[in-house]
Amino acid sequence: MLRRNRRLRTNESIRSLVRETTISPNDFLVPLFIVEGKQVKEEIASMPGYYRYSLDLLKNEVKELWNMGLKSVLLFVKVPDNLKDNAGTEALNPEGLMQRAIKTVKDVAPEMLIMTDVALDPYSSFGHDGVVANGKILNDDTTAILAEMALSHARAGADFVAPSDMMDGRIFEIRTLLEDEGFHNTGIMSYSAKYASAFYGPFRDALDSAPGFGDKKTYQMDPSNREEAIKETLMDIEEGADIVMVKPGLCYLDIVRDIKNAVNVPVAVYQVSGEYAMIKAAAEKGWLDHDAVVLEQITAIKRAGASMIASYFAKETVKIIS
Ligand code: PBG
Repeated sequence: MLRRNRRLRTNESIRSLVRETTISPNDFLVPLFIVEGKQVKEEIASMPGYYRYSLDLLKNEVKELWNMGLKSVLLFVKVPDNLKDNAGTEALNPEGLMQRAIKTVKDVAPEMLIMTDVALDPYSSFGHDGVVANGKILNDDTTAILAEMALSHARAGADFVAPSDMMDGRIFEIRTLLEDEGFHNTGIMSYSAKYASAFYGPFRDALDSAPGFGDKKTYQMDPSNREEAIKETLMDIEEGADIVMVKPGLCYLDIVRDIKNAVNVPVAVYQVSGEYAMIKAAAEKGWLDHDAVVLEQITAIKRAGASMIASYFAKETVKIIS
């Protein structure tokens, strides 16, 4: 035998020398769930260890993230039922929860990169990502509202807007309006290849945003499709996306690699709520080694081609690796 692969695995020193993928705090976007109220820190039932925060307590959380080297957040708001309607009108309120949350984060951590979720579902009385008429989701009526929503977030101070709705043409509409209004430096992270996944369940609990009828299969992608993901992503880049995203993570790492090879913009991956819940549940039962599995999954996502990972494990991962 002239070649023995085990030589490069002999001990941790040589393993760390030849390691191809490493994880650091720079890899993460931290999703944050925000609610109205004071002194609220509520655990999400299907996401043990993950919380919704009112704005006052959000401040401490953001400071803690910043001190851990986590420099980007992805904001989501839980909207009270009485403020929901078909057109998601509350999403455009300059004094709405999202708009106040952006200012709160900037106040406590001026350099924290703020990305905001742009989609109607938390604001929609139907729990859909678009305007509903006769049981159908209207595309173009929705994109017009999404562009206004993105503009409202930009005005409040968002660095990036992150449309997660999967309507056609929304990146073009958003980019055009941001340019027209002078927000040339507000970026767009597009959820480009977002699949109609059953792994979003716990997130919909977190925001009380489950669809009231039907499902999201007329706008989110069919998990059976691969080439379509490349088409979707290339179109979003043409329309002006700065960062593209694949979502969910683990079941879609083939797509991540395809897209990584096909594009020249950064690729984000969202390790979603159901992926978080699965690991927590198995670890709670003592069936999996929590920290080891978390690190393995995050590493696999990065190895597949992710430039950044939106993950509910961001804080825990930073603790594990430090
Ligand atoms: C909705 C949205 C969803 C997620 C992010 N934005 C859920 C959905 O499409 O129903 C899911 C995130 C997660 O599961 O962690 N616009």
